[in-house]
Amino acid sequence: MTLSDLDDLLAARHSCRAFRADPVPRADIERILSTARQVPSWCNAQPWQLVITSGAETDAFRAALMEEVQRGTAKPDLAFPSGYSGVYQDRRRTCGWALYEAVGVEKGDRQGSAAQMMKNFSLFDAPHCAIVSSPAELGGYGAMDCGGFVTAFTLAAQALGVATIPQAAVASYAPFLHRYFGIGEDRLILCAISFGYSDTGHPANAFRTERAPLAEFVEWRG
Ligand SMILES: Cc1cc2nc3c(=O)[nH]c(=O)nc-3n(C[C@H](O)[C@H](O)[C@H](O)COP(=O)(O)O)c2cc1C
Repeated sequence: MTLSDLDDLLAARHSCRAFRADPVPRADIERILSTARQVPSWCNAQPWQLVITSGAETDAFRAALMEEVQRGTAKPDLAFPSGYSGVYQDRRRTCGWALYEAVGVEKGDRQGSAAQMMKNFSLFDAPHCAIVSSPAELGGYGAMDCGGFVTAFTLAAQALGVATIPQAAVASYAPFLHRYFGIGEDRLILCAISFGYSDTGHPANAFRTERAPLAEFVEWRG
């Protein structure tokens, strides 16, 4: 294996916001999980737990989530960012505009952007959804370990031609998710990963995001 193999995998992966309906075989999902679990975690605690839906279970969850969203009960377990300022605000806007431009939502079209945002809760029509949680007692470090797991999941999936999108938006309905999936209150629900096969011709999948040069995030000493 060479570093350029990893570069190719990282370059090929992107967040998918329109999926085909056909399911991913269980053996492939298990293969993705077996790879993702190899990530490091503090004390090797491996704090990630996943509930993974398929088929009719995904459709039932999608319907129930969309109903819940209408009730406006959002209350994430892990506090959402209190703000995005400076360069973080710039990057957030750039990726938001790229999405809206791709799907034909014009600047200032609040209804259009809200409709696109709502697609989070239909899981972008994905045939599968994984709900990722971590023990509350592990705090931010459990969440950090799970972040590594989520990234590895997306890369392993990409290697099998499976498209993914991590979704904090879904985790904002944590009280509902705890109830719906019977996830104990001793766990923090961190995010969802919707996954399946990409609807490659869909405009929502037609843009790519950029990354900052090293000089923007590294301070060399010595
Ligand atoms: C923890 C996490 C949560 C995210 N939540 C959402 C989300 O709720 N909705 C969404 O459309 N994208 C979500 N994303 C996708 C990011 O917007 C995306 O990774 C970023 O813009 C970079 O684009 P790329 O994944 O295509 O490279 C999330 C990504 C991560 C890692």
